[in-house]
Formats: sequence, structure tokens, C-alpha cells
Amino acid sequence: MIGLSRGNVKGARISALGVYVPERVLTNDEISQFLDTTDEWITSRTGIRERHIARPDQACSDLATEAARAALVSSGFDPELLDLVIVTTITPDMTFPATASIVAHNIGATRAGAFDLEAGCTGFVYGLAVATAFVAANIYRNVLVVGAEVLSRILDWEDRSTCVLFGDGAGAVLVTPTDNGSIFSFDLGNDGSGAQFLSIPAGGSRQPASHETVKDHLHFTQMNGSKVFKFATRAVVESCEKVLVDAGLAVADVDLFVPHQANIRIIETARKRLGFRKDQVFANLERYGNTSCASIPLCLEEAVTSGRLKKGDTLLMAGFGAGLTWGSCLTRWDL
Ligand SMILES: CC(C)(COP(=O)(O)OP(=O)(O)OC[C@H]1O[C@@H](n2cnc3c(N)ncnc32)[C@H](O)[C@@H]1OP(=O)(O)O)[C@@H](O)C(=O)NCCC(=O)NCCS
Repeated sequence: MIGLSRGNVKGARISALGVYVPERVLTNDEISQFLDTTDEWITSRTGIRERHIARPDQACSDLATEAARAALVSSGFDPELLDLVIVTTITPDMTFPATASIVAHNIGATRAGAFDLEAGCTGFVYGLAVATAFVAANIYRNVLVVGAEVLSRILDWEDRSTCVLFGDGAGAVLVTPTDNGSIFSFDLGNDGSGAQFLSIPAGGSRQPASHETVKDHLHFTQMNGSKVFKFATRAVVESCEKVLVDAGLAVADVDLFVPHQANIRIIETARKRLGFRKDQVFANLERYGNTSCASIPLCLEEAVTSGRLKKGDTLLMAGFGAGLTWGSCLTRWDL
């Protein structure tokens, strides 16, 4: 497994954060009323108890717009000053145009370029890396990164091995210049030999939509759970070790580790292998399930609100997902 490391990124910081989750909560017990599953099975195998589900009239751009507005309002930032809007998602409103185009329009980012970034559930870390690169290279000053998902729309609600795992939500961060250089290092990686282990097989150019693909449920998420589990634990550990080495820091220097929220057993395995104490690791998947590109910003918001993440803290974030992709970012929290 080879990752691309970049050490000591200078000149960028996260300067605003906003999140949104739909109101509707779907519990494990509710799912067990229409599927052959139990709260006990889901909780013990995944750590997930409930997840939020978007209203039928809400698409990805609607959730993304709410999170983006929350970030702008919380920081008093004028959307007309945005240079770039990046939406990271695996559930765009449509194949095209980019969901980011719609979000930029919704929030009044009239001067901004906009594009979607697709890197599976690692999208938020990839988006943060791209935004940081633009700002650190002095190409753009103000880049908004939004991780937003309506995963409930791409789940086969007859497949108990996948649909219980995921939920809907959105989170946004603003990346802007700083003299201090709060973001220390990134690691982005990919292994396309595992592409078939987590995918929606149909609806693209390989297998266009047809009566057959609909009948065979090929427009829904398909996953080899044990392959993804093994990959995830290995990738997270290797990637985190790499960014720590790049930054010249140790596990003991990290105040908070925020991993992608897919399964509490993946988080626990990675925690033990990396040598983190339990209180160094943040998890909230119990209430959200796996929200893909939204999971890390949803954690950040809760960590800040609950006082677990404070200005000046050293923060390690790590994602993994379809591709197979993975990525980590080590930063000083500067909000
Ligand atoms: C999906 C996952 C929770 C399955 O957990 P597991 O402990 O490996 O369970 P298994 O796949 O071995 O399945 C064990 C049994 O439980 C059954 N099962 C699967 N889902 C079930 C459910 N929701 N309720 C009840 N039983 C279920 C299986 O059919 C299987 O039954 P069998 O032994 O009769 O065939 C786990 O593999 C996982 O989390 N993988 C990573 C997924 C992930 O993170 N994806 C997103 C990446 S971004």
C-alpha cells in the first residue's frame, strides 16, 4: 500500500465549521420491523444505534447548503468572498452538473469556481487537501469544502448487510490563509485493485441504467464487508503513522484523533494498533451511522461543542472508503 505524503504544509487553516443533519431519526429497532435484523446485532457488530434520514424532498445540495450556510454564519464570512466551493460526495444530486455548482449558487458564492470531488468516504480529507493546496500555493484565499451525503437513497433497503450501516448528513469547513501554518501534513492514498469491494455497479458508463440493472438492484451500494474491514484497519494505521512521521510528532502529541465513522470495531482496532488512549479518540457513529464524507466534520462540530477539541489542540483526522481510498491530515485546531 503506497500513500502520497506531503510534509509541513504552510499557510492554511480551518477558519469556520458548520454542520447539518436531517431531523428524522431511524433507529435499529425500526429497521428490525421491516428487515431480518436486531438492534443487538447492529449495535454489537457496528456500534450504530440510529441514523438520520433526509426528507423525500431533500437532495445532497440541500444538506450541503445548510452546512455551508452554518459555517458562513458562524464565522460571519461573506459568501461573495469565496474563491472556490468543493463538494465531496458519493451521492450528488445528479451525475451532472456538479452539486457544488448548485450549492455555490444557493449560498451566494457568485465569484467562486465550483466542482465536486469524489474519493469515496475519504472525500472530506481529499477535499481538505485540495483546499489547503490552493490556499498554501496562494492561488486562492477562501475555499469552502463541504462533505454531504444522502446515502439513504443509494442503499438497498432489502439488504441487511449494508443498509443498517449508513446515514445522511453534511459538514462544511472554510480553509483560509494564516501566517502560522496550522496544517502540518497530509497523506492521500488509493488502491484501485479493490474497486469492486465497495461500489454502485450500474448507472455509469460501464453499465448504463436498464430494466435489467434496476431489476438486479445494481443501482444500490454493494460491499464486501470483511475485505473493507481488513483494508480499513490497515490503511488507517499506516496513513496515520505516515503523517505523524512527516510532522515529526508522536501519538502522545495528538490531543484528538477523529477517524472516519464506519464501524466502532474498525475504530477500536486502529486505536489499539496506533497506541492511542481511549480518551484521545472521538466517535459519534452511535447516533449517525456512517455518513461518508460528512462523518469527520460532524465529529469536529460535536468535539468542539463538547469541549473535547479546543483552539491550539493537535488534531489527527483519517478517512477510508471506496476506491479503495484513504487519507489523513494532521493539523493544529485554530478555531
Ligand atoms: C458489514 C460488517 C458490519 C459485517 O460484520 P461481520 O461481523 O463481518 O459479519 P459477517 O459479514 O461475518 O456476517 C455474519 C452473519 O451476520 C449476518 N448479517 C449481516 N448483516 C446482518 C444484520 N444487519 N442483521 C443480522 N444479521 C446480519 C450475515 O448474513 C452473516 O450470516 P451467516 O453467517 O449466516 O452468513 C463488517 O464487515 C463491516 O463493518 N465491514 C466494514 C464495512 C464498512 O466500513 N464500509 C464502509 C467503508 S467507508
